[in-house]
Amino acid sequence: MEAVLGIDLGGSTTKIAGLAGNGGLIGVLQVRASDQITSVYGAIGHFLQEYGLELKDITKIVLTGVGASYVDCDLYNIPTYRMTEFQAVGRGGCRLAGFDLSGQTLVVSMGTGTAFIRVCGGSITHIGGSGIGGGTLVGLSVGLLREKDIAEVARLAESGDLDNVDLTIGDITRGPLPNLPPHATAANFGKMKYNPEPADVALGLLNLVFQVVGIMAAFACKNSGIKDVVLTGTLTTLVKAREIFAEVAKLHGLNFIIPEHSVFAGAIGAASAAEEELARAAARPPEGGGAAGRAKTLV
Ligand SMILES: Nc1ncnc2c1ncn2[C@@H]1O[C@H](COP(=O)(O)OP(=O)(O)OP(=O)(O)O)[C@@H](O)[C@H]1O
Ligand SMILES: [Mg+2]
Repeated sequence: MEAVLGIDLGGSTTKIAGLAGNGGLIGVLQVRASDQITSVYGAIGHFLQEYGLELKDITKIVLTGVGASYVDCDLYNIPTYRMTEFQAVGRGGCRLAGFDLSGQTLVVSMGTGTAFIRVCGGSITHIGGSGIGGGTLVGLSVGLLREKDIAEVARLAESGDLDNVDLTIGDITRGPLPNLPPHATAANFGKMKYNPEPADVALGLLNLVFQVVGIMAAFACKNSGIKDVVLTGTLTTLVKAREIFAEVAKLHGLNFIIPEHSVFAGAIGAASAAEEELARAAARPPEGGGAAGRAKTLV
């Protein structure tokens, strides 16, 4: 079976997705290795074995993510391309959520850091990013909870109580404020105690990261007419992400969507871009970086 592989070399983990010749998804998987080269070869080998493919089945490989810059040659003599992460995630996020690129969508990548990508009328634009993301969650969990396993932090957070760590509007004012219900956060960790319960801190950390991402997304949508926000990245797998984004959605009148395979938006977007972008690249005048055996740039 012919297949195109999309590989997203992120700041923390590598994701790989395979699309069949008819564009259908063959499968996905995630690997972690100490360096990007080990990661990319490991991901390919693991994928072939998992889905019963052989190297000769792979017609193209498209690399994306911050680590793609470390790979500048064709892998296994298979034509290999690089595309920017924002193009890949924008495209992949829309595909996974069932949105057309010609519509209006904000795609958010919640990885080690956070990126906001506006998809509008067929164009995909990185409008900015924030350093509050998964890396923040890991770092603060290590510092405050002596725990770096995010699955364990999420488990702790299940029994946490935000009232013990976050200051709410209701804590600091008696009367109602316009557009601000009493339970809205006035200051994340504004009520932190000297000896807090780990469960409360864990929930406060998840709430801090997800609220900041949600509110930045809401600001990014203001005055744009965008109502649909597709969330992607490994952090979307946490149950608390759904709960906390649902609250932000109510406050700001947005739809936050976490599609199936949200972790793999970049990899799927890269693989799905291959045919279309190659046709466009062929129509452009030749530029540097296209020599045989070197990874070529798509968009
Ligand atoms: N088991 C887990 N469940 C959910 N989230 C996790 C888990 N393990 C780690 N994480 C979080 O996922 C984050 C990494 O997310 P992701 O894999 O999407 O990032 P990345 O693609 O490597 O980074 P970037 O896109 O910023 O380059 C980590 O920083 C951590 O907070
Ligand atoms: Mg990523």
